[in-house]
Amino acid sequence: MRSDPISSKSRLDPTVSALKLLVLGANGQLGSDFTYYADQLGYETVGLTHEDVEVTNRDQLFDVLGRMGFDAIINTTAYQGPKAYRDSSPAASYDVNAHAPYHLAEFAAENHKVLVHISTDFVFSGCTPPEAHAFTEQDLPQPANLYAASKLAGESLIPLATESYFVFRLASLYGATGSRAKDHSNFVKTVVGKLSNNEPVRIVDDIRSSPTSAKSVVFKIAEVIATEKYGLYHLAGSGSCTWYEFAVEIASQLKLPVDLIERSSTREVAQEVKRGNNTSLRNQRLVDEGFEDLAPWQENLREYLRERRM
Ligand SMILES: NC(=O)c1ccc[n+]([C@@H]2O[C@H](COP(=O)([O-])OP(=O)(O)OC[C@H]3O[C@@H](n4cnc5c(N)ncnc54)[C@H](OP(=O)(O)O)[C@@H]3O)[C@@H](O)[C@H]2O)c1
Repeated sequence: MRSDPISSKSRLDPTVSALKLLVLGANGQLGSDFTYYADQLGYETVGLTHEDVEVTNRDQLFDVLGRMGFDAIINTTAYQGPKAYRDSSPAASYDVNAHAPYHLAEFAAENHKVLVHISTDFVFSGCTPPEAHAFTEQDLPQPANLYAASKLAGESLIPLATESYFVFRLASLYGATGSRAKDHSNFVKTVVGKLSNNEPVRIVDDIRSSPTSAKSVVFKIAEVIATEKYGLYHLAGSGSCTWYEFAVEIASQLKLPVDLIERSSTREVAQEVKRGNNTSLRNQRLVDEGFEDLAPWQENLREYLRERRM
C-alpha cells in the first residue's frame, strides 16, 4: 500500500487533466509509478501488462489498442536487464525495443494519438575520467551493447512514422516496485537491503551516471506531454555520481554504516554488460523549452527514502 499522497500544490492545470493515458508495461517499475502518480495528477490512466498485450505482435497490438479509448500511449516496455544482456542474438532486443515502438508510432499516426516512449542513457558510452561530461540531446549516441543499440534504433524509427511523439531518455531508475527485468529490484533497494542486514557491499567507483527517481520522471513527463513540444528529451536527476558515491549517499541519508561499502573498480568486478563508464545526462532540452529542471539527484533520493519509509 502506498502512503505518499500528492499535495494539491503538485496538481497540474485542470485543463491538462483531460488527457487519457494508456500505459504499456503497467506493472513494471516505471509503469506502476506512472499509473499511480498520473492518476493522482488528474490524468485518466489505464494500464496494460504483458499478459494483456504482446507489443511485438503488431496485429494484436493494433487490435487491443484499437478497442480502447485514450489520447496518448506511454510505452514503458523494454527488453533489458540480465536476461537481455546475456542474449547474444539481436532479435528479441530489436523486436521489443525498436520494432514495437515503430508499430506504436504507426498506430499513433493512423489514430491521431500521441506516443510517449521511454529510452535510456545507455545510448551513450562516454569515458571518464579525465573528462567528466554530461550528455545532452545534441551529443552523438554511441551504444556499447545490443540493448543500447536497439533502444537507439527505437528512437530513430519513431519519427519515421509519426510527428506527435515524445522520447524521454532516463537513467539509473529507481521506483517503488523495482525493475521487473532486474529481479524486481533497483540499486537503492539492493544497497538498503544489504546495509540494513549489516552485509558488506562492493561498488564500482569508475562508472558514472545520473540517478533518477521514477516519481520525479512521471511528474515531469506529465507536464511536458501536456504541451506540443514534441521530440527528444533527457530526463534524469540533476548532477551525476559514481555508483560508489550513490551508495554512500544512500547510506549517509539513512544513517546506515558507510564503512560496509567497499570501493571497487570495473577491473575488479565483472560487469554484466559492456558499457561506457559515463552515461551522465543533462536535461538541456527541458530547460531550453522553459520547463523547470529536475531536482538534484540527492534531493529526489531523500524524498524517495522518506516516502518509502526506508
Ligand atoms: N531500470 C533502469 O534503470 C532504466 C534506466 C534507463 C531507462 N530505462 C527505461 O525505462 C523503461 C522502464 O524500465 P523499468 O525499469 O520500469 O522496466 P521493467 O520494470 O522491467 O518494466 C518493463 C515492463 O514492460 C513489460 N514488457 C516487457 N516486454 C514486453 C512485451 N514484449 N510486451 C508487452 N510488455 C512487455 C514487462 O512485463 P514482463 O516483466 O511481464 O515481461 C514490464 O511490465 C524501459 O523503457 C527502460 O529501457 C530503465
